Amino acid sequence: MDKLTIEGNIPLQGEVVISGAKNAVLPILASSILLDAPLILSNVPELRDVSTMIDVLRHMGAAVAKVNDAEFLIDPRRLNCFEAPYDLVKTMRASIVVLGPLLARYGQARVSLPGGCAIGSRPVDIHLKGLEAMGANIEVNEGYIHANAPKGLRGTHFVCDTVTVTGTANIMMAATLAMGETVIQHAACEPEIVDLAECLNRMGAKIVGAGTPTIIINGVTALSGGKHTVIADRIEAGTFLVAAAITRGKLTLNRVDAKALEAVIAKIQETGVTIESVNDMLIIDATERKTKAVDIKTSPHPGFPTDMQAQFMALNSVSSGVGTIIETIFENRFMHVPELHRMGADIRIDGHTAVCHGVDHLVGAPVMATDLRASASLVLAGLAARGKTMIDRIYHLDRGYEHIEKKLMQVGARIQRHH
Ligand code: EPZ
Repeated sequence: MDKLTIEGNIPLQGEVVISGAKNAVLPILASSILLDAPLILSNVPELRDVSTMIDVLRHMGAAVAKVNDAEFLIDPRRLNCFEAPYDLVKTMRASIVVLGPLLARYGQARVSLPGGCAIGSRPVDIHLKGLEAMGANIEVNEGYIHANAPKGLRGTHFVCDTVTVTGTANIMMAATLAMGETVIQHAACEPEIVDLAECLNRMGAKIVGAGTPTIIINGVTALSGGKHTVIADRIEAGTFLVAAAITRGKLTLNRVDAKALEAVIAKIQETGVTIESVNDMLIIDATERKTKAVDIKTSPHPGFPTDMQAQFMALNSVSSGVGTIIETIFENRFMHVPELHRMGADIRIDGHTAVCHGVDHLVGAPVMATDLRASASLVLAGLAARGKTMIDRIYHLDRGYEHIEKKLMQVGARIQRHH
């Protein structure tokens, strides 16, 4: 298993280019199942999860080819198998987003029930309820979701019990080819949902309201192909903002959308660091002073994203004062804390609340990644710590960050990957 070693306590300086968004490209790749012609996708990040989703599409018979740097052509016209098998879904539970498209386009689907993962049980009950409300027959047995809609799907008025990002994506995609109008209420407002809707509308779908809690979709009979460029990854960008803050460096992030990062930028500014937004660049300068600890409560977009919670836990650990972090989305998303303790962090957990007392500095140590964003927080802690940090099981990191050690090396980090 690959490991990373980091010699910490070096202020990062320089420029970073942010890659395409993992959580936008995954549902957009799945949306190609709905199309009657090829989709050309640009700004596709090179991630494990992306290659897994491509494997799922190829398993179904779609042709997927890399046509250029970060550019792929997906041709769904020879798709002839309507299942997502366990051995692929178990490595990436987001594969569940092929369910809605398969049902809408082919009237049938057999998708492995995504297991839970380290951060929580991750149920998909709302996905299934939404599709049933559109007329699908759904049975779950032997670890698989068996779904069919022999008469096609029909529009419905559906209220999500909980805000669910991939649930909203699944129902919205299914509704594009359903008969009549679908209204999704209490929908996820994440920028990745907006990007998916923009891509679908470019293919001929009729979606309004994406990015708001109420999305209205009028079904059409077919969707064409076309081109789309994936939005920048706001969580990768947020992670690099914290990297600058935690090492008291100065970074310029290129190809970012500051609007998608408002809650994160506001929190970074609350630590006392200045951030300037110029066109599609963010310039962060943390060289002035030590950061102040901040209080955080995660919530659906436009609130503070749960995917940035672990990164701010690392930052709070070496900031002055006390910061309280409340995780409201997932039931077990504090697994980075015991690893940060090994590096000298003073964090006390009480249920969904973590109270961080900033220490003067962390000390490098061997630590273990447990999930994607926990591993990001360990990298950040290692960049700030005195001495050497060794991070094991970094396959978690490779799921969501494109060449992170190369990007960090380019801005002065002493970081190495060991195979
Ligand atoms: C998406 O996961 C993201 N993944 C996650 O990013 C992100 O943390 C999460 O949204 C929240 O923003 C992708 O987009 C591929 P949810 P998703 O459905 O859609 C409950 C990362 O690090 N729920 O919005 O699976 C669920 O248990 C990953 O990039 C139900 O109860 O998350 C959770 O408590 C991690 N029933 C809450 O809703 C359902 O049917 C939010 O989950 C669905 C969800």
